[in-house]
Amino acid sequence: MQLEQLTPVIGALARDVDLAAIDEGEFSALEDALLEHQVLFFRGQALSIDDHKALGRRFGDLHIHPSAPPGAEGHPEILKVHADAKTKRTAGDKWHSDVTCDPEPPSISILRLHTIPPSGGDTLFSSMYAAYDALSPGMRSYLEGLTAVHDGSPNYRDRARRSGFDDSARQYPNAEHPVIREHPKTGRKGIFVNPTFTTEIKGIPAAEGEAILNFLYAHVAKPQFQCRFRWEVDSIAMWDNRCVQHHAMWDYYPEVRSGYRVTVQGDRPF
Ligand code: SIN
Repeated sequence: MQLEQLTPVIGALARDVDLAAIDEGEFSALEDALLEHQVLFFRGQALSIDDHKALGRRFGDLHIHPSAPPGAEGHPEILKVHADAKTKRTAGDKWHSDVTCDPEPPSISILRLHTIPPSGGDTLFSSMYAAYDALSPGMRSYLEGLTAVHDGSPNYRDRARRSGFDDSARQYPNAEHPVIREHPKTGRKGIFVNPTFTTEIKGIPAAEGEAILNFLYAHVAKPQFQCRFRWEVDSIAMWDNRCVQHHAMWDYYPEVRSGYRVTVQGDRPF
């Protein structure tokens, strides 16, 4: 596997690898590369649904999304990512890491697109390590004592409402996580709040919490912490939600963009 780094802080394009047929040694190199670069990109990977799931399972148990229906018949672990002329709101159109409203949010996500628009539809990725490292020592130690609430309801209910789907009988998960989390494998610290799921910081005045969250949302969206991926048919993006946020651009309406995501179950953040 050859790696071409996209920016000094995040992202690498991996060449000369067939994700449907990697052996133990190649998988171990891939895991190391993902820990270092936080998001990896691959071209020309026409994985079947079963191969896609098998790849995810090499990282751990697969996560089942709390709000989306199975993305493929008989495959509850597959999340369908799709937008077309009828779409009222796409998935992932604000900065987030995946499903942080879960008490044990996903670790790795693996997205393959099989249909792409003629232009646009890029995905942006931001390194939460780089964003944390850029804070002053005083701000880091203040944030390290704080806990945030993450709630699935505002995001998922908004999507359901705009899509004309009655979700009033549904319950969505919510959880409390540290504002700064440590990556269980690298030991590096990163910012772990996002505007899609985080609703408040506990134990401080509401206005102060809101100001801190707004500061952090603007901070993590700075271009110097980011890379941006231009999709091709059968490209794959594989990212580590424990240290990366992403934002899917919806600038291609009414064109079609479609694919499948496999998501790996993570652990409780600390
Ligand atoms: C997501 O997994 O949040 C969607 C990412 C994308 O569509 O690029």
